[in-house]
Amino acid sequence: MNLILLGPPGAGKGTQAKRLEEKYGLDQLSTGDMLRAECKSGSELGRKAQAIMDQGHLVPDEIMIDLIAARIDQHAGQGFILDGFPRTVPQAVALDDMLAKKGLKLDHVIELTVDEPALIDRLAGRFTCAKCGTSYHDHYRRTKVEGVCDVCGSHHFIRRADDKPEAVKTRLAAYRQQTAPILPYYRQKGILRQVDGMADIDDVTRAIEKVIRGP
Ligand code: AP5
Repeated sequence: MNLILLGPPGAGKGTQAKRLEEKYGLDQLSTGDMLRAECKSGSELGRKAQAIMDQGHLVPDEIMIDLIAARIDQHAGQGFILDGFPRTVPQAVALDDMLAKKGLKLDHVIELTVDEPALIDRLAGRFTCAKCGTSYHDHYRRTKVEGVCDVCGSHHFIRRADDKPEAVKTRLAAYRQQTAPILPYYRQKGILRQVDGMADIDDVTRAIEKVIRGP
């Protein structure tokens, strides 16, 4: 099964992708995580991407298409969840080509819908485990033990530079202008489903699973 989780910054794509990865044995392919790993490694790609990401703009399509093509090419598991890709119409078209070459197809494109005030609130309170990447929130998803990651036990957490208010404004505008236009592309193919991302985290997971299981 191959899925795309679509939605604006802070919609809960990463949170839900991690849950589906564990439960269904799918690979989470997060382009944001891949880029942050490149930045951390100090690679040339990472250096190019860092400033663009910190300001909240999108990294150019050519870079992103090459990055994801390599991962899909190597992919050999039961399926994957794309989280953060595609983000523009050219990326969506390139993805179709990549999948066709591998004899793969997309089963579902799931759009998480969340209103803007809630997105701003979620990003302002987000913190992430520096070791395993699990995402938490100051109010909505706290660690069970203060200062200790529930998943890996690490004591190190980070807050993303692009979660600062100015960058969040730019990211939301990029979503409206560059990413939302891919929704009709998938609607036309008959594989787009909407899930209410305003619901509680567990309820969102249940709604996604209902889509996956089918009628
Ligand atoms: P990326 O890392 O993909 O960021 P994003 O799409 O902006 O999404 P986020 O990771 O911020 O949010 P999310 O939807 O995963 O929410 P989360 O689950 O963490 O991309 C970063 C940057 O990389 C981009 O800006 C761009 O520069 C570049 N980039 C990446 N891919 C690219 C591409 N394809 N093309 C070009 N550039 C690209 O949840 C957020 C918070 O809310 C958490 O604290 C969480 O605990 C909480 N939360 C989650 N669900 C709920 C809920 N139901 N109720 C209450 N709180 C919740």
